[in-house]
Amino acid sequence: MLSAGAFFMAPSANAAGPLSPLSHMSLIAAAFFVAFTLALAVIVLRYRRRGPGDLAQSQVTCSPKAGGPLVLLALVWGLASLVCGTKAELGQRVAHYGGYIIKAQLNEGVWRFTYPDDQTVEARLYLPKGEKIQLIFSTDAPHSVLVPQLGVQRSLMPGRLETAWITPSEVGVYALACAGLCAHGVEGAVEIKDKAEFDALVEDRFGAVPPSPEEIGAELYVSLTCSTCHSTDGKPGVGPSFKGLFGQEAHPLEGGATVKADEDYIIESIKTPNAKLAKGFKPDQMPQIFGELKPEEYEALIAFIKSAR
Ligand code: HEC
Repeated sequence: MLSAGAFFMAPSANAAGPLSPLSHMSLIAAAFFVAFTLALAVIVLRYRRRGPGDLAQSQVTCSPKAGGPLVLLALVWGLASLVCGTKAELGQRVAHYGGYIIKAQLNEGVWRFTYPDDQTVEARLYLPKGEKIQLIFSTDAPHSVLVPQLGVQRSLMPGRLETAWITPSEVGVYALACAGLCAHGVEGAVEIKDKAEFDALVEDRFGAVPPSPEEIGAELYVSLTCSTCHSTDGKPGVGPSFKGLFGQEAHPLEGGATVKADEDYIIESIKTPNAKLAKGFKPDQMPQIFGELKPEEYEALIAFIKSAR
């Protein structure tokens, strides 16, 4: 009955094992309840009134011998829980060398897990079985993260990092709950996978579709501030709109010449804006700070400009 999984939750990480049998209050309470009820039944039957002549006589005496063993048992149990619990807790808290670091951020009620290669997964924490893992928690509001099967419970506070060192031991999916009074209704799960399957998942970027160059370009268009001067809907701004620019055979320039608006022209316009000026625009208006972008960033910007039709 005491075997893990039959009555207790099966421990699924190194830290969960030593805690559960000792800290299972409902089982301890049930054992005491059954023992006391049986004792009461025996006493009621044995000392019942057997006839009219059977007069009540108080024979109640108080002996420390009766209570002593019980107090001792409770004491030993409490101390054992303390020692095992402290050992398991310290095993999670004390820093180890090496280890696979995963950052677990809980912001606005959404879990975000960041892996060593900067990949981020929402809501589901994938862990490799048998690996030593360091979880680093952070949050924007008070929470209490709880995964009983992993033996992990951490009170999270904004501005404070919490760490847990664990080594998952059982493949499976477990609820990642908030044990606090949580207004967000945080939902999350932990999924422990075999090492090989986990590695394949990381390789596959957790099934996420990589963004297209056009999508990356759209982000750069905003983050590099191109959007403050160039529209994509034809409206003129500080600079010419990108709408319909790409592919023009005779794109008009200042001074009357024309140019083919191809990849080379776009890259030249970004790297050295004054080399050729779009018709109607003055030199030195466009910042000359985009000459050192990565090749794939130029490609992404071109893909985005192409898409502005
Ligand atoms: C402060 C305003 C400003 C910002 C920011 C800016 N540009 Fe420009 N850009 C201009 C102006 C003005 C011109 C026209 C003069 C010229 O060709 O240099 C221009 C011209 C261009 C042209 C040629 C357009 C044409 O019709 O021939 C391209 C392509 C271009 N910019 C791309 C970019 C990209 C990509 C970014 C962001 C990485 C960017 N620009 C950021 C002002 C800006």
